Amino acid sequence: MIPYAHQDIDENDITAVEEILYSDYLTTGPCGPRFEEALSEITGADYALAVSSCTAALHLSMMALNVGPADKVYAAAVSFAASANCARYVGAQVDFIDVDAAGLISIEHLEQKLKADAAHGTLPKAVIAVDLAGRPVNLAALKRLKEQYGFYVVEDAAHALGASYQGHATGDGAFADLTVLSFHPVKIITTAEGGAVLTNDANIAARIRRLRSHGIEHDPALLEHPDRPGYYYEMQELGFNYRLTDLQSALGLSQLERLDQFLSRRRELASRYLTELKPWEERGLISLPPADQAGQSVSSWHLFQIRVKQGKRDALYQALRGRGIGVQVHYLPIYSHPFYRNLLGEIKLPGAESFSAETLSLPLYPALTDLQFSLCLTQVQSLLDHIFQE
Ligand SMILES: Cc1ncc(COP(=O)(O)O)c(C=O)c1O
Repeated sequence: MIPYAHQDIDENDITAVEEILYSDYLTTGPCGPRFEEALSEITGADYALAVSSCTAALHLSMMALNVGPADKVYAAAVSFAASANCARYVGAQVDFIDVDAAGLISIEHLEQKLKADAAHGTLPKAVIAVDLAGRPVNLAALKRLKEQYGFYVVEDAAHALGASYQGHATGDGAFADLTVLSFHPVKIITTAEGGAVLTNDANIAARIRRLRSHGIEHDPALLEHPDRPGYYYEMQELGFNYRLTDLQSALGLSQLERLDQFLSRRRELASRYLTELKPWEERGLISLPPADQAGQSVSSWHLFQIRVKQGKRDALYQALRGRGIGVQVHYLPIYSHPFYRNLLGEIKLPGAESFSAETLSLPLYPALTDLQFSLCLTQVQSLLDHIFQE
């Protein structure tokens, strides 16, 4: 089976991890801060806090913004469940915002909801917008609405390391208050499990640093008793063990050296899919994701998602899987999962329903060889012809 995504590990990655295994620190050593510095440099964020997963990054983001049981959070309706679960971890109410044709948060629906909630005095404290597939959300519109209605923007960029919006690297903080990344193996770079929070706010960064390590503070400037001996530390609030190990940071640092290479291979394959599948779009059988617009929106192409028309998505999914092409669906609407149905009742948002019913992710990753890519492409083309004839 050719999977829809796969990590790309080389000898340098293996050597980097091996060196840590022979070193003094497997965790909380010098490699973590070096990985964070590299992330800061690449994204332009003032602070990068590496954590054990993007899920942890989202949880800590909610805590650092003081989101709690009295608050409401809006989340994009189509994403991995973690994009909304973080609000529930801190006891906040979740409300879902519909998505547009590309699966990104619908600014139109967001604006409608904000107007209605403003009238009832129930505005959200934060909006979680997802750069689905690596394509940046409409950050300019989010920022405009944030200034008008006073909420925090949390950009879930789990898919989008290396993307850019209006010339700003994802995570540079020009639009969002906090941006979170994932380093799960299917993502742009990997640390096995892993994630990061990016922010330009020093207080938020300090809070996340403390919360990821049990709520423990070592910085003498922040201690109640700065005059005590070196062994002394204070647990100032209830935190977690959400740290990334040095083994993982070493892998992340090594992977970052190939980030440009990874991104350009992803972009090359995406543009080949766009060209080669155009005739099927012209026949109205599928729709293709929007191409990059230099200077406006440049995707990291974590996923290549087509939309299959006329209710044929599942047939194409089965047929491709039957031929060894590991296509996947990203995602069912979060509100359709039993947990959220039990919590919120039946919700159906039209954009999310149609996106989730039609979307199919085709294999796309740097380690996909030209031969494997051609095989995927010809299978997609011939099976599209076949299922639409039936
Ligand atoms: C959009 C999105 N947000 C958050 C997550 C959670 O990431 P992690 O697996 O690193 O916790 C994922 C994981 O797939 C994701 O796709």
